[in-house]
Amino acid sequence: MHRVAVIPGDGIGPEVVEQGVKVLEALARAERVDLAFQWFDYGAERYLKDGTTLPESDLERLRRDFDAIYFGAVGDPRVPSNEHAKDILLGMRAKLDLYINLRPCRLYADRFSPLKGKGTKELDFAVFRENTEGLYVDEGLVFKGGTDDEIALAQEVNSRKGVERIIRAAFEFASSRGLRRVCLADKSNVLVKAHGLWRRVFALVAKEHPAIEASAMYVDALAMDLVRAPERYQVIVTNNLFGDILTDLGAALCGGLGLAASGNIHPGRLSLFEPVHGSAPQLAGRNEANPLAMCLTGALMLAHLGESAAAERLEAAVAQVVNEGPWTKDLGGTATCAEVGEAVRRRVS
Ligand code: NAD
Ligand code: IPM
Ligand code: MN
Repeated sequence: MHRVAVIPGDGIGPEVVEQGVKVLEALARAERVDLAFQWFDYGAERYLKDGTTLPESDLERLRRDFDAIYFGAVGDPRVPSNEHAKDILLGMRAKLDLYINLRPCRLYADRFSPLKGKGTKELDFAVFRENTEGLYVDEGLVFKGGTDDEIALAQEVNSRKGVERIIRAAFEFASSRGLRRVCLADKSNVLVKAHGLWRRVFALVAKEHPAIEASAMYVDALAMDLVRAPERYQVIVTNNLFGDILTDLGAALCGGLGLAASGNIHPGRLSLFEPVHGSAPQLAGRNEANPLAMCLTGALMLAHLGESAAAERLEAAVAQVVNEGPWTKDLGGTATCAEVGEAVRRRVS
């Protein structure tokens, strides 16, 4: 049995999670997979009520009692500092040491490509975003705050171990899927020391995979090339911040945030699965959000749990819905979140 902690969170989180869980339940019956869900109420509502975000003892319990976390989104205009979201989401990424942020960028229907002449054959790459270090450690200082002489500093952390393990994960993923190309994205022309470390480690790990063509690019050039010639890329490995930015770009190339899934993974340990999109407060409560990113996120979770047949069946069902409809507004349709969820459910049942 796989024990799944469900955290709907804020905004559209609960709406898309509801559909995602219904789909997973139908799929589990059809594929004879045993999934047990338990719900947790972390998010803005609870934070505003009692000030708690993610209690340390709960984290212990999650670690002990669960195999995966199925997470909607956090972020609420009533918490402008975004404090609770940082505590909950970034807290779990860091404290559970979920060092791989795997974000597949795969187009399922030519009609949703924003690029002229680029379709499903050209748009299929995966980003390995380092998920525990970089600028996301948010270590910094403000001097002379609020004055004209104010200085704000932020430190980017790149540990040898942290860099090596994400690069290894990218090469191992490529190798296990018979992919031929891995590309490093950095800014080592400016951050000569810090990103020089990425280049050195990348070259060393690449040597262990002679069958894979390894290339390194500056992230600005890569951003341009992803729009110009996305077919060149199969696996991209990069730091936390660049990965954040590149995967919104990747999502836009593949039909938008309504279709982009991600896994926050530590192989062999409790891992967290969430769509790339946020809580989209302006859409919340309207039954208009696209639940397909949440469904694809379920497929990533099943793959992590070793249920590859169920994962493939779910991805195929989503691909069918993307091609045939019904579609939510973001994809040019008029269907509701629940109707699209129902369409996926019918196809997996
Ligand atoms: P967002 O992803 O919530 O929304 C960006 C745009 O995409 C909006 O126009 C939104 O309507 C649209 N969109 C997003 N998901 C959609 C869906 N499923 N269906 C249809 N349209 C969708 O990003 P944002 O507006 O920058 O951030 C809103 C809040 O979410 C902020 O508080 C932010 O910090 C938070 N956030 C959370 C996560 C997360 O929990 N993983 C990720 C990103 C942003
Ligand atoms: C993401 C989000 C988060 C990030 C925010 C909400 C902290 O944008 O998951 O991509 O920056 O990692
Ligand atoms: Mn992001």
